[in-house]
Amino acid sequence: MNKSAVLICGGLLLLLAFANGKKYERCELARTMKILGLDGFRGYSLPNWVCTAFYESSFITDRTNFNRGDNSTDYGILQINSRWWCNDYKTPRSHNACNINCNELLSDDITNSVRCAKRVVSDPNGMNAWVGWRNNCKGKQDLSKWTKDCRLDSPDML
Ligand SMILES: *[C@@H]1O[C@H](CO)[C@@H](O)[C@H](O)[C@H]1NC(C)=O
Repeated sequence: MNKSAVLICGGLLLLLAFANGKKYERCELARTMKILGLDGFRGYSLPNWVCTAFYESSFITDRTNFNRGDNSTDYGILQINSRWWCNDYKTPRSHNACNINCNELLSDDITNSVRCAKRVVSDPNGMNAWVGWRNNCKGKQDLSKWTKDCRLDSPDML
């Protein structure tokens, strides 16, 4: 290979190594969340989680939103907040209850987001912590549409 080819390959590898910003398909997210143990976690069925992710992030893993009210930021597919749950080293009086750097909630692999979401939903408020859930998913009759036609049990799920 010539030099520029090597440079281009190296650049692509770097991009892959830091790949953020995956947009999940609905069923892909449902399967992943199920594997990671969210279905029924603290009594919330899988459609609740998929619905929440849709209204919080449109299924996009590297989504961030700044909150003017308290200068905090929401991170990732479940828009986890830096005031309470993760540390982004710029939010005043951050509690970092998930003990994690907020950037780790933006990766294609949603394991860290799910782990932290389990911590969030374990508080007495449950899923009310998510405005997207409260306003769009809570108490809805047709929630099952969020996992409709998804193959959730096949062995080669991903
Ligand atoms: C948010 O940041 C701005 C600009 O730094 C500052 O003026 C304001 O007091 C901050 N608000 C809070 C609630 O920390």
